[in-house]
Amino acid sequence: MTAKQLKKIFIDFFLAKKHKEIPFASLIPQNDSTTLFISAGMHPLVPYLYGQAHPLGKRLVNIQKCLRTVDIEEVGDAHHHTLFEMLGNWSLGDYSKIEMIPWSFEFLTKYLKFNPKYLHITCFAGDNDAPRDTETAKLWQQQGIPSQRIHFLPKKDNWWGPAGSTGPCGPDSEMFIDLNPKKPATDFVIGCQQGRYREIWNNVFMLYDKQKDGTFKKLSQKNVDTGMGVERVIAILNHTDDHYLTAIFQPIIKQIEKLSQKSYQDVANQKSMRIIADHIRSAVFVIADGVEPSNKAAGYVLRRLIRRAVVQAQDLGIKDNFVATLAQAVIDNKKNYAGDYNFDTPKIKAVLDQEEQKFRSTLSRGLREIEKLTHNNSLSGLNAFTLYQSFGFPLESIQEEAKKRKIKLPSNFIDQFNQAKRKHSKLSRTLSAGKFKSGLADDSVIITKYHTATHLLHAALRQVLGNHVQQAGSNITNERLRFDFTHSQKLNPDQVKKIENLINQKIKSDLSIKSQNMPLKKAKKQTALAFFDNKYPSIVSVYSIGNFSTEICTGPHVSNTKKLSPLKITKQESSGSGKRRLYAVFE
Ligand code: SER
Repeated sequence: MTAKQLKKIFIDFFLAKKHKEIPFASLIPQNDSTTLFISAGMHPLVPYLYGQAHPLGKRLVNIQKCLRTVDIEEVGDAHHHTLFEMLGNWSLGDYSKIEMIPWSFEFLTKYLKFNPKYLHITCFAGDNDAPRDTETAKLWQQQGIPSQRIHFLPKKDNWWGPAGSTGPCGPDSEMFIDLNPKKPATDFVIGCQQGRYREIWNNVFMLYDKQKDGTFKKLSQKNVDTGMGVERVIAILNHTDDHYLTAIFQPIIKQIEKLSQKSYQDVANQKSMRIIADHIRSAVFVIADGVEPSNKAAGYVLRRLIRRAVVQAQDLGIKDNFVATLAQAVIDNKKNYAGDYNFDTPKIKAVLDQEEQKFRSTLSRGLREIEKLTHNNSLSGLNAFTLYQSFGFPLESIQEEAKKRKIKLPSNFIDQFNQAKRKHSKLSRTLSAGKFKSGLADDSVIITKYHTATHLLHAALRQVLGNHVQQAGSNITNERLRFDFTHSQKLNPDQVKKIENLINQKIKSDLSIKSQNMPLKKAKKQTALAFFDNKYPSIVSVYSIGNFSTEICTGPHVSNTKKLSPLKITKQESSGSGKRRLYAVFE
């Protein structure tokens, strides 16, 4: 079965159960300050899990591209990826586990044709925060799963979310398939990634909202959130244990074989080939969603992906620039992805090519530098950090180089490295601790206020600078808003003043904010600002602020501009060619 076929079966199954298909979101969160990438299908739906009405109703289904940077170091085995596609369906305060579990059983056994005898199920064992989920276990038993194949596990295994440190989450029930059922049953060991029992689907009963203090509050509505990883299920359905042997990756692996003149069959090459295939695939998707390599946030992750791939390619003996060639293989293989994606091929290749060239020149300088930083045949973690910082030399490559050159690394090498990194910057601190997971901004009042202020800023920029101004990105934290837009020159002080004055005059004018659901076509006719054309569902919410601003948006917003304090633009910078970035705060 191909990924596209799997997607069709899944979507059709849920359409027949009165769900509406929603388009996938960009990999870059639009209104979430605490996360760099979308990490699950539920992630863009957080406002609706909290109770906001979705324009398409309470039953949704889609395919969502996701990126989990927390797995970056794990990539190299047969099962890990950074980018993956997730099929999911949602009940936004509508149906419950009573419907979802029979549907899950039906889908797995009738549509994917898994033998029900080989299914194992996990349920939440219960703790002080939430009760043992015997209800779910009973529902599975009613489907014919005997209790020996239903396993109760604690929170670390059977609780999903929140995607960040706070937000919607809940007990889950995971479905596993026994890949080796002929062998006598062993203890069920949870092993979604490898081993005998492989996870195929997850049902999350999103009933709780994790608070900043770590406690769990009941959500105002009972939601269901499910997720099925396409790459994993396709591998299982095609009877292979290695995701990289499926059609999703094979054309990319074949191109790497061609470039390196080495074979994937040779296990010595597999780790490098998988890292290259995964990282370049992710890089293509990340660039397609508007990110460029940089030393900050998502741009930094992108840089790291490309650089790690180049280092691995060197090890395979690929000497020339190869990343753009591989990007072409990733793009040409889009028929084998579940989602339908559009790629700006020349742009993607140009960005990758430039980054590769830049890195190759610093890499060879960095390799020479290793000798200089080695004293008494030993390289300290601090000096390794210098290499990492100045040359973008990934830590694992430094370790590998040291091994090759028989340079000793002190026993506290990693600690020294991490300490230097922690000191260096907050961003590095988060990365080194492996905490660069997704996270969700809490739906606090201040974030809502900045969200409304962002609409005012957008409208003011267009009025003062002209209608060529289009939103190119937005990021909000509790402390400030950040807004990227298309405009090539630096704003002069007079323009900044005019923009601020216009916004603050609107804030003072007590304009009310109204939202209205309407078909996308109608919304566009009303000149509602909407810039991510193919990412909108057929019915959208349009938010207007008096007569000043009209935008297609998911909210949330304050009800009246009088709830906002005056806004001040604090900083401006370039945000890539033809783009500017502004920061603004409430005074
Ligand atoms: N959010 C859950 C997951 O990512 C189910 O969709 O597994």
